[in-house]
Amino acid sequence: MDKTKIIDGKMVSELIKVKITKQIFKIKAKKQRIPALTIIQIGNNKASTTYVNNKKIACEKVGVTCNVLNYPDSIAESALIKIINDLNNNSKIDAILVQLPLPRHINSEKIINTITTKKDVDGFTPKILGNLMLGHYNLLPGTPKGIIALLKHYQIQLAGQHVVIIGRSKIVGKPLANLLINASATVTVCHSQTKNLSVFTKQADILISAVGKAKFVTAEMIKENAIVVDVGINPDENNNLCGDVDFNNVLSKVKMITPVPGGVGPMTIASLLENILYLYKLNQ
Ligand code: GUN
Repeated sequence: MDKTKIIDGKMVSELIKVKITKQIFKIKAKKQRIPALTIIQIGNNKASTTYVNNKKIACEKVGVTCNVLNYPDSIAESALIKIINDLNNNSKIDAILVQLPLPRHINSEKIINTITTKKDVDGFTPKILGNLMLGHYNLLPGTPKGIIALLKHYQIQLAGQHVVIIGRSKIVGKPLANLLINASATVTVCHSQTKNLSVFTKQADILISAVGKAKFVTAEMIKENAIVVDVGINPDENNNLCGDVDFNNVLSKVKMITPVPGGVGPMTIASLLENILYLYKLNQ
């Protein structure tokens, strides 16, 4: 494999985690309270359990306290709101993360909006997303923040580049499009209703896929020498972890590409850790 083409999110995330570990070490040396995250997981969706475990392990590795509260699928919306309000008022908790998706009987937007902006570690509340759109950055949602940091680390130019995003979710596509516009890229956002998708993807200097379908992006959809960012984390036909991009078949065609695993995923987690520390300092 041509390693020079690999955008190594694992390596860049480790650099960020070293910095965070040093900061936590200083906090501990001063005998101050340690930053604390509470994760709420509803039900036992397998993918969510994996993500939550990964977040908890990452917190523990850098020395951040992480409590996971697990409630059954049957929990009432009102009960969940009460739990979040209690965490909002708990001065020992710096950051609250409600793992998505939530069961259908719960209004996700209402739940997210219950989290106080001061503890919204995901950056999904309206004030944070509004500020993001306006170009005022304090805290940013983890995956878009991680992608921008990764591209910056590799000195990949954004200004004037045509970036095509596949996916318009509130978590990735929409915030990322705004960050890229603010970085002077020309941005096209494609989604499930886009006609003739490859007409757009073939124009991309940078193609970002956040679809959630294994090997959805094939070599024919990519321009020669494009940079490809794969946000997907999917099981393939053998139940192995696989991105949205048909990695083996596009590798010879691209200039650079993020692998799965080891690309965007570790950057999302590193960004989460940065956000916890940011909220801790804000709330001290
Ligand atoms: N589910 C998938 N990605 C995310 C994320 O970044 N944050 C939360 N809370 N849930 C998710």
